[in-house]
Amino acid sequence: RIFRRQMQCRFDIDRLNAPFLAIYDSLIPTEEEKAKQNQLFTLLETLITKEWPEAQLYVYGSCGNSFGVSKSDIDLCLAIDVADDNKSEILLRLADILQSDNLQNVQALTRARVPIVKLMDPVTGISCDICINNVLAVINTKLLRDYAKIDARLRQLAFIVKHWAKSRGVNETYQGTLSSYAYVLMCIHFLQQRRPAVLPCLQEMQSTYSVTVENIECAFFDQVDKLRDFGSHNREPIAKLVWAFFNYWAYGHDYANSVISVRTGSMLSKREKDWTRRIGNDRHLICIEDPFEISHDLGRVVDKYSIKVLREEFERAAEIMQYDANPCVKLFEPY
Ligand code: GTP
Ligand code: MG
Repeated sequence: RIFRRQMQCRFDIDRLNAPFLAIYDSLIPTEEEKAKQNQLFTLLETLITKEWPEAQLYVYGSCGNSFGVSKSDIDLCLAIDVADDNKSEILLRLADILQSDNLQNVQALTRARVPIVKLMDPVTGISCDICINNVLAVINTKLLRDYAKIDARLRQLAFIVKHWAKSRGVNETYQGTLSSYAYVLMCIHFLQQRRPAVLPCLQEMQSTYSVTVENIECAFFDQVDKLRDFGSHNREPIAKLVWAFFNYWAYGHDYANSVISVRTGSMLSKREKDWTRRIGNDRHLICIEDPFEISHDLGRVVDKYSIKVLREEFERAAEIMQYDANPCVKLFEPY
């Protein structure tokens, strides 16, 4: 079934560029919204530094990686020198401080898989999660942001794919479908694979940025201003890329044997990763290698039921892009 048929692109695909760009524009947060996010960040930073002068607050996730749609929550990471056992204490103290400053719905979730404090700012209406020492997430946020600066088509494609995934209910990790982070990695990898390539592989280039976190060396080329022309040999506009993205995941990807890897800018085999069988809860039914935690498969949440849902959604999207008279509406219809 996998290689059943990769479709030829419809010849009038270009008429869809304008409507896709209009959807992209409508999803981008306004300057006003970004100013509100910054205002809340500054407030929290002030409160935190007062209590822990040596601590640092970082933005990660969609507000920091430039793939955030309008009305996103803010993900923050408090970097502080504390043993893992004492994280709960810090989170409880943090919750106290935030509550005293009139932030609303403050909750310390100390037993969650990733322990956090949640809050809502009544002034800006923005919700926010704060975790502790999730430094790898801060670094992968920078990697994604740097990729986005190289070619505008990455952000366009990723916004459209995320919007599709949210509309179709396949952006729910607790139901076995993929995280936003996984979808953005799929978009980056896809653009690295186009011929000519739209994106380079930053981790294969001479590194200009390097940090070691949890014994993992995170190094890549981050002078992306120098790469602004990288994708100019590829003239494919957004509609063609959306079409090709869904066609690839519907009919082109070898789910049985392949692992997509942004780190190497190539396809790896499941065999070389030893991801061929189920170990514990990791089933490896769709394999997306984390760029830094390379033993980490972002497809690990996908089970034998949700893989079916996911693949049917990719096929639905590919069919719509191929045959539907009005794909820009049909693609995003609520499921
Ligand atoms: P939306 O909130 O849906 O717009 O997207 P988001 O970009 O905030 O994505 P998501 O909630 O999936 O993840 C937030 C951030 O957490 C990501 O940008 C990553 O930095 C980090 N993250 C999420 N999942 C993983 C994971 O499995 N491993 C690692 N290392 N980091 C992750
Ligand atoms: Mg988020």
